[in-house]
Amino acid sequence: MQRWTNGEAYDPYMGRWSHAVAAQFLPWLAVPKHATWVDVGSGTGVVIRALLDAQEPTRVMGIDRSAAYLAFAQHHITDPRVAWVVGEAEHLPVADASWDVVVAGLLVNFVPHPDQAVREWRRVVRSQGTVAAYVWDYVDGMPLNQVFWAAVAQLQPDPQVEEERHQFDQWQPSVLTHLWQEAGLVDIQTTSIHLPMVFADFADFWTPFLGGQGTAPEYYQALPETMRIHLRETLHAALPLRADGSLHLAARAWAIQGRVA
Ligand SMILES: C[S@@+](CC[C@H](N)C(=O)[O-])C[C@H]1O[C@@H](n2cnc3c(N)ncnc32)[C@H](O)[C@@H]1O
Repeated sequence: MQRWTNGEAYDPYMGRWSHAVAAQFLPWLAVPKHATWVDVGSGTGVVIRALLDAQEPTRVMGIDRSAAYLAFAQHHITDPRVAWVVGEAEHLPVADASWDVVVAGLLVNFVPHPDQAVREWRRVVRSQGTVAAYVWDYVDGMPLNQVFWAAVAQLQPDPQVEEERHQFDQWQPSVLTHLWQEAGLVDIQTTSIHLPMVFADFADFWTPFLGGQGTAPEYYQALPETMRIHLRETLHAALPLRADGSLHLAARAWAIQGRVA
């Protein structure tokens, strides 16, 4: 997958919002301070930044398949407690039962074999440790995508666009719970994390789409120039901008945690 190539462009598009979700997600886990953490799909390091800020971890490993994102993260986060590893979510290069916590922010829906991945995360966590993740509620809690795909559909109704638009809708708490159960985790809990998404103006909303770091920006990049102009105009007209030009949207993520017996 080409998508995860430019950390500089990811943070304004998605990283800023994921960091805000992580800041609510981590306290919900109620993991004692001074634990050891693996962040799978660590990307540009937004979850690890939140971890270092609030959890006083003794050791952290960030694992991601994108060498470009890891290089970006490593450049910006130089804390000696953090190790960065290029790797796959389904095959972590660590020993059985060797970490206190595995977390994964905005990853599970992108992994080709999520069942295998969650089993792998359980494998590396010690008894009584935690495996946890969060994903956007793509049905009713990811307004960036929702407004984008609605505008695309208005311009060019197309079954392929409909497929793109709904490809992650299944990622609801019942599906996550089933995955965690199948992996053998216990004491499973889910919650919703609500997030105001406030943009200073249309440019603050739109410019991050131009960086190509996500399903919608990637789709946009592949469009012919005339379609791009129409799409931008359609979106601009559809957004509920306030009189001062600002845009106030609301996002929701689903979070899950389970314990290793
Ligand atoms: C939406 S980003 C999330 C990044 C970060 N966790 C956050 O919350 O901002 C998804 C990340 O997962 C990584 N990724 C996708 N599939 C992966 C896989 N199978 N194994 C490891 N990393 C993967 C991508 O490279 C990307 O950095």
